[in-house]
Amino acid sequence: MAVPERTARPRRYLMCRPEHFDVTYQINPWMDLGVAVDTARALGQWEALVDTYRELGHEVHLIEPAPDLPDMVFAANAGVVLDARVYGALFLVEERRGEEALYRAWFAAHGFVDVVTPREVNEGAGDLLAVGDVILGAHGFRTSRGAHREAEECFTRPVVSLELVDPRFYHLDTALAVLDRETIAYYPGAFAPAALRELQHRFPDAIVAGEADAVAFGLNATSDGRHVVLSADAVGLIGQLRDRGFHPIGLDLSELRKAGGSAKCCTLELAGWSGPVR
Ligand code: ARG
Repeated sequence: MAVPERTARPRRYLMCRPEHFDVTYQINPWMDLGVAVDTARALGQWEALVDTYRELGHEVHLIEPAPDLPDMVFAANAGVVLDARVYGALFLVEERRGEEALYRAWFAAHGFVDVVTPREVNEGAGDLLAVGDVILGAHGFRTSRGAHREAEECFTRPVVSLELVDPRFYHLDTALAVLDRETIAYYPGAFAPAALRELQHRFPDAIVAGEADAVAFGLNATSDGRHVVLSADAVGLIGQLRDRGFHPIGLDLSELRKAGGSAKCCTLELAGWSGPVR
């Protein structure tokens, strides 16, 4: 098989400095209250992620972090942004609900006019990932199936519902990475049989990741179509990406992983937004 030449497209991202990052409650199997978190180290790793994006030519916008919201660094959960429209988040867990209004205020202050306040529980782009003209939507742990219908109405794009079954992969973006309009990578063990059949049918050329790379958070990756930013620990997946013509960039995000997140969780793509008013 010929290896295709991959093309990058510049992106706009929203991110949140992990100034108040910590593990003070446990809402996924990665969070261990007995393990100390080094906030300064998390900040350094996060800054390297921001620097990487900027070096790649992407725009990074920042929202002010708030104390008492230790997971606010995971901007991907704040909503879904497509065609400059925002479908806001409604967190399942009380601990993160304080983030909703803060992100909503950021969108309002930055010229987003179509901001939909959800009725259904959903954790934003953690569980709703656009690929080409469809949206892949997860349910099973956080986001409800009702939210898939709501997102479908909001964006007038079909949502393909996929059931997650392994609690280690509680958000879709921990088990599946969108690489470009038609290419994804995923870990099969995270999905229910019907979801797996759906993925195999829709994406016969997908990169199928192994468990070790999935556990290393390798699928929690961002891609601009050419460069794929991911955990450096996902060595197998890094090789698979290279074989397929992508340019993987591995980073140490080990401190953020203590809360169950990595590169993609820290990054909310502002798709379709024309940028700040100057
Ligand atoms: N501790 C956070 C939670 O459990 C991590 C969120 C990770 N975000 C993501 N998009 N997967 O909600």
